[in-house]
Amino acid sequence: MNDPVSREIKKGIDLRRHIAITQRDYPQATGEFSQLLGQIALAGKIVSREVNRAGLGDILGKSKEENIHGERQARLDLYANAVFTRALIHNGGICIIGSEEESDPIAVRQPELRGKYVITIDPLDGSSNIDYNASIGTIFGIYRKISSPGTEKSANLADLLQPGRDLVAAGYIIYGASTVMVYTTGQHVYGFTLDNSIGEFLLSYPNIKIPENEGYLSFNESYFSNWDKPVQQAVKEFRESGLYSSRYIGTMVADFHRNLLAGGIFMYPAERDVPGKRQGKLRLLYEAAPVSFIIENAGGAGSDGFERIVNKQPENLHDKTPLFAGSKKLVGRVEELYRDWSEDS
Ligand code: AHG
Ligand code: MN
Ligand code: MN
Repeated sequence: MNDPVSREIKKGIDLRRHIAITQRDYPQATGEFSQLLGQIALAGKIVSREVNRAGLGDILGKSKEENIHGERQARLDLYANAVFTRALIHNGGICIIGSEEESDPIAVRQPELRGKYVITIDPLDGSSNIDYNASIGTIFGIYRKISSPGTEKSANLADLLQPGRDLVAAGYIIYGASTVMVYTTGQHVYGFTLDNSIGEFLLSYPNIKIPENEGYLSFNESYFSNWDKPVQQAVKEFRESGLYSSRYIGTMVADFHRNLLAGGIFMYPAERDVPGKRQGKLRLLYEAAPVSFIIENAGGAGSDGFERIVNKQPENLHDKTPLFAGSKKLVGRVEELYRDWSEDS
C-alpha cells in the first residue's frame, strides 16, 4: 500500500469517500460506477434494517411463491429482491439485472434510466437460515454492457452471460453480528462495517488477503457419500493434516467471508446422482463467479474442480456449478486429485 491512493485509504473512512479516492485512478470515470455502488449500499442498509427487526414484523417465513430453481421463496427473499431491483433500476446506472429470484432478466425499459452497467444478484443468500437468526447476505457482480455500445439500444441476455473474468467489480453484504460490505474492482479487496448510529459503511478491512495453512473446512458433510472420489479424498487429507478446524453455517457468503479472513476452503461439490444437484447447488452467475473473483483478488482460488470458475462461460442465466473456494493450496489439491481421477478413468 505504498501508492498515493492507498495511503489515503485509512480505516474508518466512509464508503462514499473511499469510492471517490479509488476512482481517481480512472480519469475516464463518469461517476456512474460510484452511483451504482452507492445504490447497492443503500439497498443493503434497507435490508439490514429489516433483518435486524425481522422477528418483530411480518417478514419471516415462507411465501407462497416458488423460484426458477424450484425453491419455495422466503418472504425476505422477495423483499430483498424488490429492494435491490428497485434501487438499481431507478438510480443504479445499469441496463439489465439478472436476479436469482427472477426467471428472466429485467431490462431497464426507460432509455433515460439506462446506464452502461450490467448486474447479477443473489438478493438473499442463506434463505434456510432466515428464521433462525443466523447470518444471511446479498451477493452481486457488475459487468459492462457488451451487446451494443451506448445505452440507446436496450440490453439483452448476452450482456448477462459473461464469464467472471470480465467482472468490473464484485461484492457482497453480510447481515450478521454486524452488517459488512466487501467489494473489489480487481485489485484490493475492501471490507466496510455498517455503523448503525450514523447509517454509514466505514472501512474496516483495507486490504483482505486469505491466509495459507490455517483456517476452516466448510462444507455440508451430510452429502459426503454423494461426492466424487477426489472430493472425498481431499476432505480426508485436509482433516488428517491437523491444520484446520470445521465450520459450516449454510449461508455461502457467511462461510466464504469467514474463510476469506481466516483461511481454509468452502466447498459445495457436485452430487452426480442427485437430480437437481448434478452440478451442485450454487449458481454460477449469482454466487460462484462473484466470490471467485473476490477470492482470486485476495490471493486465493475459486474452481469447479477442473477449471477456474471465472473462466466458465455461462450458457444459461441460472446455470449451477460445483464450487471450491479457498486458499490456493487447498483448491489446488482438489484440482490435482480431479486430474488424477480423470486420467485413471
Ligand atoms: P440461497 O439462499 O441463495 O438459495 O442459497 C443457499 C445456498 C448457500 O447459501 C449455502 O451455501 C447452501 O445453499 C446451503 O445448502 P445446504 O443446506 O444444502 O448445505
Ligand atoms: Mn444464494
Ligand atoms: Mn438467494
